[in-house]
Amino acid sequence: MLDFVWCRGRAREAGQRAAGLRRRTLGARLVDVLQPAWLDDIRPLPAAAPAAPRCWVGNVTVRDARVADMQAIQGIYAHHVRRGLASFEEVPPTTREMRDRRVEYVGLGLPYLVAEAAGRVVGFSFASPYRVRPAYRHTVQDSVYVAAGLGGQGIGGALLRQLIARCEIRRLRQMVAIVGDSGNTASIQLHRRFGFREVGTLQAVGFKHGRWVDSVLMQRRLGPGCNAEPSTAAR
Ligand SMILES: CC(C)(COP(=O)(O)OP(=O)(O)OC[C@H]1O[C@@H](n2cnc3c(N)ncnc32)[C@H](O)[C@@H]1OP(=O)(O)O)[C@@H](O)C(=O)NCCC(=O)NCCS
Repeated sequence: MLDFVWCRGRAREAGQRAAGLRRRTLGARLVDVLQPAWLDDIRPLPAAAPAAPRCWVGNVTVRDARVADMQAIQGIYAHHVRRGLASFEEVPPTTREMRDRRVEYVGLGLPYLVAEAAGRVVGFSFASPYRVRPAYRHTVQDSVYVAAGLGGQGIGGALLRQLIARCEIRRLRQMVAIVGDSGNTASIQLHRRFGFREVGTLQAVGFKHGRWVDSVLMQRRLGPGCNAEPSTAAR
């Protein structure tokens, strides 16, 4: 398991308490944790607590997804399918379908990750084939979803950072983001932050929630990208 210390700018500090950052003892460690409404065993920061530090520990753990996580993953994704434009699916897939998709991607050697905070799955990310024809085999597409109401706290960043690292270990060479809706500033900004550049917008290729929806294509290289021959170890 990999622990992430997620550093935020000063502009974020004021939002930490509102976002539910609290201090608690976890084993022998005193850590700051995200405190969604469903956590009730946490004491509030003492009044005399020092000012919020510049960097804070969200104790978001990113790890490989397990079968037991799939129900939570389905719940997170279902919300975004029903309410958002990031996914062009209109009917949320069942947990079984999500499980099958994960098995397929993991079977290809691709990472499928979850972010966990205080024992709860708060987001997930995975890499899937960009396209199925063989010449695309060094390129993957990323997907990142954070639980409703928990955006803007570094969870998506922790998931994407680790996803990129895992794909680089696999010696993949390009990662493509297909962002649903050109108004999806959260996703566009998240990807920009991790070195993706916008390479084009497919206009009005989707129709969802009563309106036309663009796809914003973003791309970043993995490892040496096209500056070296592909590895035979790649997918
Ligand atoms: C896109 C998404 C994964 C981002 O996750 P997140 O946990 O909110 O992201 P982070 O907190 O790590 O923020 C990463 C960057 O995005 C920016 N960001 C996050 N939410 C934002 C918003 N609503 N508006 C503008 N920028 C936003 C942050 O400012 C940060 O950039 P910075 O570090 O330069 O300030 C999340 O909003 C989500 O699940 N959205 C719905 C599904 C989706 O669009 N997935 C992407 C599919 S490709």
